[in-house]
Amino acid sequence: MNPTQDRYVVIGNPIEHSKSPAIHTQFALQTQQALLYERLLVALDGFDAAIKNLVASGVRGANVTLPFKLDAYHIATDLSPRARAAGAVNTLKFEDNKIIGDNTDGVGLVRDIVVNAGISLQSRRILLLGAGGAARGVILPLLSELPAELVIANRTVQKAQDLLTQFHGHSVALSASSFADLSGEFDVVINATSASLSDGLPNISSSLFNGKSFIYDMMYGAKPTHFMQWAADKKATVRDGLGMLVEQAAESFELWRGVRPDTAPVFALLRSQLTHP
Ligand code: ATR
Repeated sequence: MNPTQDRYVVIGNPIEHSKSPAIHTQFALQTQQALLYERLLVALDGFDAAIKNLVASGVRGANVTLPFKLDAYHIATDLSPRARAAGAVNTLKFEDNKIIGDNTDGVGLVRDIVVNAGISLQSRRILLLGAGGAARGVILPLLSELPAELVIANRTVQKAQDLLTQFHGHSVALSASSFADLSGEFDVVINATSASLSDGLPNISSSLFNGKSFIYDMMYGAKPTHFMQWAADKKATVRDGLGMLVEQAAESFELWRGVRPDTAPVFALLRSQLTHP
């Protein structure tokens, strides 16, 4: 290790497949920042001890992935409003005896849709599928785009209703629904369920979108997910979550380093590595 390099880690369990070291190393090269970014596998009951060690050894920050985003939320001494709303933290910055917790997942999603895909969310009718951590993390940034309406639908409707209570008082029409009770057509449908992990499909009707709709799956892989294939067959425009991954990383990088990397070449590199391993 070069002593002048600032150190960062991504913490998770498992962690070996994380693309974060590759992404941040590219960002550092591009912006000429001297930093070292590594993976850290932490035992399921070892998160707090690992953070104390990192702080003591002068590490500057960490990305946090499954299953520790809630632990990171609790260990933070200062929380950004979006981390508070998400109830989870994916970015920690260690500074002046403080542990600053942020959540860049939602803003990463919004940037990927609005900037990279060129789809405005303003005045649109948006359907968010899922009510777990992934869905909760993106609600505030989605509301900030001032859609006409945001409907949160979940297989277990009670979980969607519980989520709503944390976001009252916002000017956007916000509601919870079961899959079966959804009606009308949506401009944008975002799959934040974990169904694609097991090649499953959220059980929604294809009458909820049309050929002009934009369908986003937060998952990504070498091939389009089952959900994306199904929506593309119905002539919708589809996009996977690779861009969200790169954008949330860029947001973390900016929080740590004060410079914003160019995400396009890193996205292109990851895409080619995914499709031609
Ligand atoms: P995460 O943190 O990734 O969001 P989670 O908190 O376990 O993970 O939430 C998983 C989400 O995916 C939930 O909304 C879950 O629906 P339930 O609350 O009804 O369990 C949803 N999910 C998982 N598999 C699904 C499937 N096959 N169809 C529809 N929804 C599914």
